[in-house]
Amino acid sequence: MRTVFLTRKLPVDASALAPSGVRVVIDERDRRLTSDEIAEGAREADALLPQLTETIDRELIARLPRVKVIANYAVGVNNIDLDAARERGIVVCNTPGVLTDATADLAMTLLLALARRVREGERVVRTGAFGPFSPAFLLGRDLRGATLGLIGFGRIGQAVAKRAAAFGMRIVYVTQRDARAEAAGETGARRVALDELLRESDVVSIHAPLTPGTRHVIDVAALASMKRTALLINTSRGPMIDEAALVAALRVGSIGGAGLDVFENEPAVHPGLVDRDDVVLLPHVGSATAETRAAMATLALENCFAVLTGNPPPTPVR
Ligand code: DGY
Repeated sequence: MRTVFLTRKLPVDASALAPSGVRVVIDERDRRLTSDEIAEGAREADALLPQLTETIDRELIARLPRVKVIANYAVGVNNIDLDAARERGIVVCNTPGVLTDATADLAMTLLLALARRVREGERVVRTGAFGPFSPAFLLGRDLRGATLGLIGFGRIGQAVAKRAAAFGMRIVYVTQRDARAEAAGETGARRVALDELLRESDVVSIHAPLTPGTRHVIDVAALASMKRTALLINTSRGPMIDEAALVAALRVGSIGGAGLDVFENEPAVHPGLVDRDDVVLLPHVGSATAETRAAMATLALENCFAVLTGNPPPTPVR
């Protein structure tokens, strides 16, 4: 019998999906596990299914002698030491594709909430400050004709481009991929250099993976080169933005606002962000729809089951 160790409960019946000869062990504490707890729980396991909040580093990988596959419950794999896994012959998998639409929808949610000042408007209504209609009250801004700069033009970036194009936005992007992206033709998106994107965009939205090379892609200098009215959206990983620099830029008004679903030291949030009306803050819920989270769970389990039954996993990280 082969064993898959899940560090948390998933929103599907994992045991019911397991093929014969494979059993699923779920850690019942249903919280982020420490490295020691993972090493202990997965000591006898052939597959590990961790959460993005759990760091699967070289030291922990060395303590998982039987594990053949690590199937992250996320598309981002910055929590896993990929080199250490490869050196031990462990296949690492993630969950691309199934969360593309949900995450792109949430990026648009943040963008619209900022552009139309939803946070302030909500407060007016809820606090009884809603007076008679007034011509110049709570004016937001149009998306039509505004330029959206996408940092990263993979599946999610392209899905955001399609949505933004439907709102009449012009799109520019930066990407490390060589191939021309399919959505570029469809949306008229133009590939540019990062400095041009930062200078020209009314909205900058981040959709690139977190790596040592992309950490703090939005730093003091990047913020300084953005328009004073620019909105910054992040649904990827918090450390893509230097959060202290963002707070400083918001304070002096050198950018126009931010919509953040992820944070540099998650779940801690920089105190300078919390009370601002020009930011919208969400608790890392980009993929959090019932359908998407179930699809992610199924895909992560399928990755484990495939490797343990001698088949190619559907979504290995290359
Ligand atoms: C991911 O998949 O990387 C998201 O952050 C969680 O869905």
